[in-house]
Parts: sequence; structure tokens; C-alpha cells
Amino acid sequence: MIEEVKKLYELIINAKNCVILTGAGISTLSGIRDFRSEDGLYSEYNVEEIFNIGYFMLDPTMFWQYAKNFDISKYEPNVVHNVITKLQQKGLVKQIITQNIDRLHQKSGSADILEAHGSFDNYYCTRCSQIPVFTNDSAFIMSIVNNDLTPVCSSCGGLIKPGITFFGECMPESFTQITEVINNCDLLICLGTSLEVFPIANLPGVVLENKGKIVIVNKQKTRYDRYATVKLDDLKSTFEELDVILS
Ligand SMILES: NC(=O)c1ccc[n+]([C@@H]2O[C@H](COP(=O)([O-])OP(=O)(O)OC[C@H]3O[C@@H](n4cnc5c(N)ncnc54)[C@H](O)[C@@H]3O)[C@@H](O)[C@H]2O)c1
Ligand SMILES: [Zn+2]
Repeated sequence: MIEEVKKLYELIINAKNCVILTGAGISTLSGIRDFRSEDGLYSEYNVEEIFNIGYFMLDPTMFWQYAKNFDISKYEPNVVHNVITKLQQKGLVKQIITQNIDRLHQKSGSADILEAHGSFDNYYCTRCSQIPVFTNDSAFIMSIVNNDLTPVCSSCGGLIKPGITFFGECMPESFTQITEVINNCDLLICLGTSLEVFPIANLPGVVLENKGKIVIVNKQKTRYDRYATVKLDDLKSTFEELDVILS
């Protein structure tokens, strides 16, 4: 295993444009459940209904009931977020792309995160698109939700929705930048993502087509495993070892 981690380190220091792509798996070490692990949210909830714009507009209560358990202020970054921050600060990683909506990369001190699915840290009105001042605050929204009320716009009464991308919605503006970053990437390190959610799941394919390399650290198998220069299973031990190599 240590040999494979050393190989990963060698790939990182020899890359010109190393990009990291993260998924919900990296935040399981912080206590946030992912979707597709054995005890992920799919085992208990119909995730495609909770995070679905059609269902939300008809009845947002199911989503807000789930969101009660997802108060991002409660969670702290783990060794994976922290080592990624070190790699970025050493200039070894050019860009971080995340599918996560939990803001743990930012909390760990990483900069310029491209959030592929938005984040739970901003809110807007689905009717007038305004971002009313009082709703631009997670703690305030959570206080409404924890009282079993539905947040509504202070200007027009429309439904308030977090700035995360639901199933059935377009990708956020960050996607244009993500495409550019991927086109210039010669090493893509995919961490804790099942690579099942498109269009993000296409990104490793683009890097491979451009003759770049990919690395995968993920417990479950992914569609790209056989194309990976390095494939490791366990995030915690990999990043603890990488941390030792770095220091
Ligand atoms: N933390 C969050 O922000 C969060 C949480 C749940 C879902 N989501 C959203 O759900 C979507 C789900 O796609 P996804 O690919 O990110 O998640 P996913 O649940 O589909 O896949 C997570 C993967 O991580 C792996 N994993 C979990 N713990 C691991 C560990 N300790 N070591 C190695 N691998 C581990 C699992 O085997 C799984 O394949 C994303 O688009 C994201 O927006 C975000
Ligand atoms: Zn409004």
C-alpha cells in the first residue's frame, strides 16, 4: 500500500496541472453520510425525490425535513481535506473541483474551490430569484427549518431554495470553468466519488482522451478503475500516509 501511495506522490510532483475531484466519500470521515455507500442515504431515503426540483416545487417539506440533519456548521474537515489544503498551498495541486455541498474544503483552508453542485451556504427565491438579506444566512434558515416551518421569500413569498443543484436542474455557472480546468489537466485525482452522477462522471474520460492520467481512491468500484494509473480503496490510510510523505 505504501508503495502505491509513494507512486501517487510521484505522479503529483511530476504533473504540470494536477486537479483534484472530490465526492461525498471524503466527508464520511467527518460524519456526513454519502449517497451510495452501504449505509449511505440511498439505503434509507429516496434521494432522487428529496433532491428533485419538481418534487421540491410541489412540496418542499420533504427536502427541509432532510436538511434539518444537514446543518453544515456542525461538521469539521478531516485528514483528506487538510492534506488537500497542504498540497494546494505547496503549489502541487492547481485546482480543486468538488461535488460536495458541505463547504468542508473551505473550512479546512483550501482556496478557489469549484463547486460543481453549488453549496448549502447560500439561498435564493425560486420565484423572484432575489437573495433577500435575511435568508443569506444558514443559521437563520436552520432556525426556521428546526421549527418545522418552510423558508419563504421576504419580498414575494416564493419558496426559498439553497444554492445546490437538484436533479432536474441545469449545472451551475461554475461548470464552464470546470470544463476549462479539465481540458488543461494532465493528472486528475478522483477521491470518494462513485462517478455515477453526470456530467461530472464524464470528466475522467475527458482527461484520458487528452492523454492525461487518472488516479482513483474509492472504496467501491467505479467505471474508470481499469484506466487508473493508481487505484486505492481507503481514503483515511492513503491520506495519513501522504501526509507523512509531505512532511
Ligand atoms: N458531503 C456532501 O456534501 C454530500 C453528501 C451526500 C451527497 N452529496 C451529493 O451527492 C452526490 C453524490 O455523488 P458522489 O459521487 O459525491 O457520492 P456517492 O455517494 O455516489 O459516492 C461516494 C463514494 O465514496 C466512497 N467512500 C465512502 N467513504 C469512503 C472512504 N472512507 N474511503 C474510500 N472511499 C469511500 C463510497 O464507496 C462511494 O463509492 C454529489 O453530487 C453531491 O453533490 C454531497
Ligand atoms: Zn421572491
